Amino acid sequence: MVDLTPEAFRTLGYQVVDLLANQMATLPDGPCRRPVPDEVRDALLEQPLPLEPQASTDILERFTQLVLPYPMGNAHQRCFAGVNSPPAPLAVLADLLASGMNPSVAGGDHAATYVEHAVLRWLTQLLKYPIDSGGLFTSGGSVANLIGLAIMRHVKATTNTRANGLWAEATPLVVYTSAQGHSCIEKAVELLGIGHTYLRKIPVDAEYCMDVEKLRTHIHADRTQGLRPVCVAASAGTVNTGAIDPLNAIADICAAEDLWFHVDGAYGGVGILAEQTTDLFNGMERADSLAIDPHKWMYVPIECGCVFVRDAQAMRDTFSLIPPYLRDDTQMPWFAEFGIQQTRSFRALKVWMLLQQLGEQGYRELISRDITLAHYLQERIRTTPNFELIATGPLSIICFRYAPLGCNDLDTLNRRLLERVQQEGHTFFTSTELDGKLVLRVCIVNFRTTEADLDFLLEYLAKVGLHIRKEVL
Ligand SMILES: Cc1ncc(COP(=O)(O)O)c(C=O)c1O
Repeated sequence: MVDLTPEAFRTLGYQVVDLLANQMATLPDGPCRRPVPDEVRDALLEQPLPLEPQASTDILERFTQLVLPYPMGNAHQRCFAGVNSPPAPLAVLADLLASGMNPSVAGGDHAATYVEHAVLRWLTQLLKYPIDSGGLFTSGGSVANLIGLAIMRHVKATTNTRANGLWAEATPLVVYTSAQGHSCIEKAVELLGIGHTYLRKIPVDAEYCMDVEKLRTHIHADRTQGLRPVCVAASAGTVNTGAIDPLNAIADICAAEDLWFHVDGAYGGVGILAEQTTDLFNGMERADSLAIDPHKWMYVPIECGCVFVRDAQAMRDTFSLIPPYLRDDTQMPWFAEFGIQQTRSFRALKVWMLLQQLGEQGYRELISRDITLAHYLQERIRTTPNFELIATGPLSIICFRYAPLGCNDLDTLNRRLLERVQQEGHTFFTSTELDGKLVLRVCIVNFRTTEADLDFLLEYLAKVGLHIRKEVL
């Protein structure tokens, strides 16, 4: 039976909450993540299609045995991988409530629509972005960036791209990002039919920020060749190092050259709230479009991205298509007119709840604290023998290497070290490549992390490093 009685739903629901609460209780002493045993992986991958109905309690039991014990690990205080925060508990419950209500926030006269409008307004205030801009919650940063660039294409093309695609354009459009720009910018440029041949990855300076002189040179070279520069997609916090491109200088160039100024703030945009870094975001408010990602550094459960576009009408013009079966309700313009999705989940609810729980001040403190922790780890790396600090971005990402004297293949040493650390699961983080070197990368977007966790991290790495060294040297 698909429906449950309210009583059965209540009982099952309490069990679900108990499971999550018990998992939270084990976090401080438990591992960050544990390897999925072969038999569990096989059981999951090869589970046959269920033919007959099964009891909800049996299904929950199977989840408890096979799924729950093997998380990705990002609820844990020593998870520093990707840009994956723990989910704030209230926001986890908000997701349950959102699913329970199950509105489609395509638009229309129901509460979820007004909540999304309100939260978007709050976010513009937090980000110091124009309050009358168009905005939309999305699945994540990739789609937020895609939407921003889609509007750019609509505005900057000389012909009607909705009718003709790019077929009627006389000359190729050119987009600029830095060599450290996120891969989703390249994907967006490909999807929009601009093609990555016309994406220029501008070299970065010693701090991994876009070199604006080189940007200027590339724009002029492209014009000389008869191409049409149309957009700079700057980063307000790169995924590799947290570098923030010189936003004001880029905004000036965009203004002078008549280019669209897009800012990818998926990871770093909310760094504007931290006292240590707020000035670095000067110029972000000048962006024509801005992508942020509450499921990264606002501690909201996945999925939740967000895009803002200064010219709300351009946003609507890019996407609005109202078929006859959707013309009943004209209370306010529908969100579906401002983006790709028609049926949309109630993502705004988790941000609405969390912003009330923390307030602007609470967010300022948490984000600032993550940055302070990152500085603490940088200092520890600087003063710990056999470690080398590679990049100290302004936000909360630290890139470093285990670099004992006498080892001439540090890439292999660090790759092995990371493999061992990931297998053991006491902590979890990943690597990246900087200037051709493999580096360990720690990203702190975690309200559970303390200095003690960072001490553990370094001491543990030193210990594992000693073992691996014997194998590699
Ligand atoms: C700077 C930056 N931009 C965009 C993205 C893509 O966001 P998402 O993974 O939410 O699609 C990321 C993801 O890490 C990112 O760090």
